[in-house]
Amino acid sequence: MEPIIAPSILASDFSRLAEEVQAIEGAADWVHVDVMDNHFVPNLTIGLPVVQSLRKATSIPFDVHLMITDPQRWAPAYAEAGAYNVTFHAEACDDPVALAKTLRAAGAKAGLAIDRDTPVEPYLELLPYLDTVLIMTIKAGFGGQAFMPELLEKVRDVRRRARVNDLEIRIEVDGGIAADTIEQAAEAGADAFVAGTAVYGAADPSEAIRKLRALAKA
Ligand code: DX5
Ligand code: ZN
Repeated sequence: MEPIIAPSILASDFSRLAEEVQAIEGAADWVHVDVMDNHFVPNLTIGLPVVQSLRKATSIPFDVHLMITDPQRWAPAYAEAGAYNVTFHAEACDDPVALAKTLRAAGAKAGLAIDRDTPVEPYLELLPYLDTVLIMTIKAGFGGQAFMPELLEKVRDVRRRARVNDLEIRIEVDGGIAADTIEQAAEAGADAFVAGTAVYGAADPSEAIRKLRALAKA
């Protein structure tokens, strides 16, 4: 599958969110929206009202990454708000299959995220119910952290299982993805790449996206 580049607005200027998203139109495949509740992770960002408003400001598909406790309660509302892909954390959900089914029924793609300290093996059997598996390449909670290459082992495990079972699934990596790390993530089998600092910290975000895409294809 063609690589997906998903800039994270966590690294953008929150006072100008609509403009920041519009600035990457034509370059980005998805906009990655980090929802944090200061409970599942020790940081607080934005929630449903912002996603609902921002949805009207752009046509780029939204990739919502829920770093919240109780995703069963909140995730469907993001699908209803028009999110293309809704990803919730394995560590926060008792019944990922049920939630994935609910999200798909609401018209969204269903994603499962695996944080730094969580092994992926127990979740490999859930792949048929999922559209996306998000492998954190940092500890979830903050942008601008250093990429952890050892976590790519999980990407390899998911890609291997998807191949063996002939499943079409997006494997997304999130955390520290930049020009010097994206190639190794792609080589491990990732095909969707979240990049916050590497895009919004660049002088020309659209150009940064094009460079990342070229590297992911190489
Ligand atoms: C952190 C978020 C990431 C964050 C990545 O928990 O899930 O999406 O924005 O930021 P960078 O690309 O700067 O590591
Ligand atoms: Zn994220």
